[in-house]
Order: sequence, then structure tokens, then C-alpha cells
Amino acid sequence: MCNSASPNEFAQKLDDYIDNLTHKKENLIGVLHYAQEIYGYLPDNVQWHIAQKLNIPSATVYGVVSFYSFFTMIPRGEHVVNVCMGTACFVRGADKLKDELENQLKIKAGETTPDNLFTLETLRCVGACGLAPVMIVDGKVHGRMQEAQNINEVLAEYRP
Ligand code: FES
Repeated sequence: MCNSASPNEFAQKLDDYIDNLTHKKENLIGVLHYAQEIYGYLPDNVQWHIAQKLNIPSATVYGVVSFYSFFTMIPRGEHVVNVCMGTACFVRGADKLKDELENQLKIKAGETTPDNLFTLETLRCVGACGLAPVMIVDGKVHGRMQEAQNINEVLAEYRP
């Protein structure tokens, strides 16, 4: 998410992006990805605005946002921590890794820390099974996360 811009600048960026599209309606998913990149999530007012700009029903936009798991209507923290719950990671202790992250961050999976620094989520195999168990922070894979100390060190990299 771009934190340095104002809400008006976010809206202008989104409008510029949409205005430059040749086939607007056909690019709904691309527009939603871009909007989520700017805002960090897809609140109702942003969905409504996109529907107006693309000249499609807002129910269509909502339907797409709620269908795909990579879209979220809930604000996320500055850093998104994912725990892989795929088979290889599960066998090598993904449950314990998730418990330890919940313990260190003092939130449950699906929640965001009160300071909005971290959101904790789970996902399926990310193709790094040889490094199981794996956690991913802002898209960066951290492997063999069995020790609480290692987990703490990774989180510390993202703390101010
Ligand atoms: S199961 Fe976790 S990376 Fe494949």
C-alpha cells in the first residue's frame, strides 16, 4: 500500500489508471488489483466508485471481490505475514509456526495488530516445500521456521 498519499491522491491515481484503459469493463479484475495495491484493501466506497467508472452494477464488483480470496474488504497491516499450511509445511510443523506467530504478534490468524503493523494470514503451498515450514512476509519467503528465536528475528526485520 502507498502510505504517503492522501485519499484524494489515491482516487486520482485510480481514476487515471481506469481512464487509460481501452477496454474498461473487461479489465475489472486488473482495476481491482490496482485499487487494492493503492488502498491496501477494497472498501465499499472504492468498489462503488469502480462500478461507476466502469459503468457496471456495483453488485458485479462486489461479487468478484468476494469470490477471489486475493481480494480483501478488511484493512490490512503494513506488513502481511502468511503461514503456508500446505502438506509439506503442515507435516513439518506449520501449526506450531502459526501458534508461535499468534503468540508473538498477540493476534489470531486473520487479524491485524492494534498498531496496524502486521496482519497474520494463512495460505496454501507457495512452491517452497524444500524449505518447510515456511512463512512469507510481504511476499518474501522465510524457510525452516521451527525455532521461536528465528521467527522473532524475522519479525524484528519488519519492526520500526
Ligand atoms: S507446502 Fe508449504 S511451500 Fe509447499
